[in-house]
Amino acid sequence: MTAGRRASSSDVPSAEATTLAVEDFEAAARQRLPRMVFDYYAGGAGEETTLRENRRAYDRWVIRPRVLVDVSTVDLRTTVLGQDVPFPILLAPTAFQRLAHRLGEVATAQGAASVGALMVVSTISTASLEEIAGTGVRRWFQLYVLTDRDLTAELVKRAHAAGYGAIVLTVDTPVLGRRLRDERNRFSLPPGIGLANLAGAGLPTAEGSALFSFFVDRIDPSLDWEDVAWLRSLTPLPLVLKGIVTEEDARLAVEAGVDAIVVSNHGGRQLDGAPATLDVLPEVVAAADGRAEVLLDGGIRRGSDVFKALALGARAVLVGRPYLWGLAAGGPEGVRRVLEILRDDLALTMALAGRAGVPAIDRSAVAPAPRDPDRGEDT
Ligand SMILES: Cc1cc2nc3c(=O)[nH]c(=O)nc-3n(C[C@H](O)[C@H](O)[C@H](O)COP(=O)(O)O)c2cc1C
Repeated sequence: MTAGRRASSSDVPSAEATTLAVEDFEAAARQRLPRMVFDYYAGGAGEETTLRENRRAYDRWVIRPRVLVDVSTVDLRTTVLGQDVPFPILLAPTAFQRLAHRLGEVATAQGAASVGALMVVSTISTASLEEIAGTGVRRWFQLYVLTDRDLTAELVKRAHAAGYGAIVLTVDTPVLGRRLRDERNRFSLPPGIGLANLAGAGLPTAEGSALFSFFVDRIDPSLDWEDVAWLRSLTPLPLVLKGIVTEEDARLAVEAGVDAIVVSNHGGRQLDGAPATLDVLPEVVAAADGRAEVLLDGGIRRGSDVFKALALGARAVLVGRPYLWGLAAGGPEGVRRVLEILRDDLALTMALAGRAGVPAIDRSAVAPAPRDPDRGEDT
């Protein structure tokens, strides 16, 4: 798999030549988006310590390349929950995508579908789960449990009927983390952009600024393990818990019979001071002990990040902000490019590390980075 760079005869570099990495899409999105929207996407909770740590954790590991391995073909295919995916990178659920692009989640789904990637659709999407399903994208549905349990059950049924392949219950959001950037910017939804899945369900769907807080007030902070059992009884779909960062909760999740766990701190947007996801991946993988698949998100920006997460036991990873930057910068095509960049970078890392297939990325493929004395206590 090679990422060919086309020579351009014009003086102006083509978009493809200037957007080679996720960071380039972030810069383009920063230019295009209103400050309030960029900050909502980019920001984290509190002092954004966890947000920064999510990235830094990848520097705490190095890759141990093996040589003289035939890498003439690098095979990125794998399965998640028994479902085939062409490469182990999924789209994490993110809210309010019409703030980035006119078509919102539908554009994201088109971009994802064009490379066969699996998209996790948020409860608080700005296109309905049925509209998104209409693109044909591979899809799972992310659920926020609302105080209105009938409405919650209705969402699960709709997702099943619309061909979603799993329910991903987010468990790190009993209340919303404190996002200072959003408070400073007085973050609000513009008129016309609303909660498309909740239309006609007693929630206002296009009422602007009050809408977000109205929704947040409806998330049920009393959610506990008994509710997980309730959810299990509601649907035959596989159940994934997103937002686990300790071995204790990983064990409870397995005992509750969940099919997969996403090691996630919500991209540093909930509890500031929570650990970086890569740092706790090994303890969660050990606790799950093969009884549930373990996925990870948070801070994945290049192929080597994916590689390290897989080596430490993740079945696959999810990305959030990277594809939002693609969506803002270039709609479906931007989403596609970002996914291709990550995919091709993973393929390159695997080839250079002497791992020709996903199963070959085992624990021996990484080692703790040597401590750098120049970085003092930070390391
Ligand atoms: C703008 C934004 C909105 C998000 N909305 C949701 C959501 O609706 N539901 C959810 O479970 N997670 C949500 N997340 C968290 C992501 O699913 C994911 O955990 C996180 O973005 C991964 O980190 P990354 O952005 O560094 O890749 C959101 C993240 C961002 C950046």
